Amino acid sequence: MRRRTLLKAGLVAVPATAAASAGGVGWWWSGADLNTAGKIRFENRLFIPPQARSRRDAHGRRVFDLRASPGRHRFRPGAPTPTWGINGPHLAPTLRATRGETVLVRFRNDLPETTTLHWHGMHLPARMDGGPHQPVKPGATWSPTWTIDQPAATLWYHPHPHGRTAVHVYRGIAGLFILDEPDPPELPGRYGVDDVPVIVRDINLTDDNRLDERHRSQGGNGIVGDLVTVNGTPAPYLPVTTQRVRLRLLNASNSRIYRFGFASGREFTQIGTDGGRLAAPHETRRVQLSPAERAEIVVTLRPGERDVLRSFPPRTGLNLWDRRWTGGDDTLDILQLRAAPRLTPSPPLPDRLADPPRLADPATPPARHFRLAKYTINGRSMDMDRIDFAVAQGGTEVWEVTSIDGSPHNFHVHDVQFQVLSVGGDDPPPHLRGWKDTIHTPPNVPIRIAMRFRGTPDPAAPFMYHCHILNHEDLGLMGQFVVTANGQDPRATTKPSHQH
Ligand code: C2O
Ligand code: CU
Repeated sequence: MRRRTLLKAGLVAVPATAAASAGGVGWWWSGADLNTAGKIRFENRLFIPPQARSRRDAHGRRVFDLRASPGRHRFRPGAPTPTWGINGPHLAPTLRATRGETVLVRFRNDLPETTTLHWHGMHLPARMDGGPHQPVKPGATWSPTWTIDQPAATLWYHPHPHGRTAVHVYRGIAGLFILDEPDPPELPGRYGVDDVPVIVRDINLTDDNRLDERHRSQGGNGIVGDLVTVNGTPAPYLPVTTQRVRLRLLNASNSRIYRFGFASGREFTQIGTDGGRLAAPHETRRVQLSPAERAEIVVTLRPGERDVLRSFPPRTGLNLWDRRWTGGDDTLDILQLRAAPRLTPSPPLPDRLADPPRLADPATPPARHFRLAKYTINGRSMDMDRIDFAVAQGGTEVWEVTSIDGSPHNFHVHDVQFQVLSVGGDDPPPHLRGWKDTIHTPPNVPIRIAMRFRGTPDPAAPFMYHCHILNHEDLGLMGQFVVTANGQDPRATTKPSHQH
């Protein structure tokens, strides 16, 4: 594990092809990948983030009280690790609201620095979004309110301060925001029993158990950790008491891409993507998630069985060098499922899960192009004072996003859930045929997405779009747009279309 550090310390600088064969350098190189398959003793019961309590105010709003503060969390024997958390020392409670409800979050920042709280995947007014334009100073409060108006989904929330997102998330400010519907199809749904949050984060600890915030990986990709935690628990096991268990997988890591499957090779069923349920259950053996992406899966177990959720080397399309240094060759044991000797029967999954509308014909030419590189979009780095473009309220747009510099990237758009029209000119694979707010963008593969902007026009409050490899975002791989009544905004620096 330490060899990755040696290389980072600048002892070598060689092209990837030479590294694989060149003596001592090759030794370091081959040690830079991590394989924990079969090597983890799953000794810690998986912690389940509590569901945040809420109350109704006089206006019928569901009110949550959240307070961010420093804390201490025990990752391993020895000293507890200084961390950050909300309503607790590390991570954040699960918020939950039903479509149609109005929520009010009263957020107090008792961290030593200014932060924000962003509702990732949420459709809401830009001023409630918690992006870099809604800073909350130490000791201050911020109380966004909005009405939930989107399908049931597993969303999440995390800080978004300009230039400091990576470290704020890494220190532990991250939680789920589960959206429900009044009449859902019958799915495993008992929180913490057969409906389980799986928030996956990789960290590095120093010898004295502090969070190591150094970037060991090459190439500006930020922190890649050797210690994988789920809901803050290292080496976790989940006792399973039902025949089927639903896992809400969230990649809350700074830069790692996971390709989840099971050690046994078993099939499982993907039922949801970032922003809602798939139209129909999708049987698969792998689900790949880049940072911020989610998937809901259902696993069927036999009584007494044990199996391990494992991450296999992801398909990233990266060159050998970038792949190795972003953990792209790693195999990681994540979470052991331990089925009880007797399991409560679970109903079979419905054949149909959702009936999403088709937003656009796949042949629609893109209105905008986004070319991602370190650390720019279309050659420009994020500027808080520059609105990149305006979109029309109620309008549907097709965007084409292409990663052009061979580096790992993904693409996230605030306010909307989008539909993937094509990947490299082909139909999207089944696991991308649901609502998405973040998509992995392998090098030189144009990806077309369609989205509709339903929000209230507000020319003065922008939404972000960016790479969710958090160090890339912090270093400028981000832009901003506003929603206006007619799609015109005098401050936007590009025309609404045809700028290639
Ligand atoms: Cu998950 Cu702009 O954020
Ligand atoms: Cu990126």
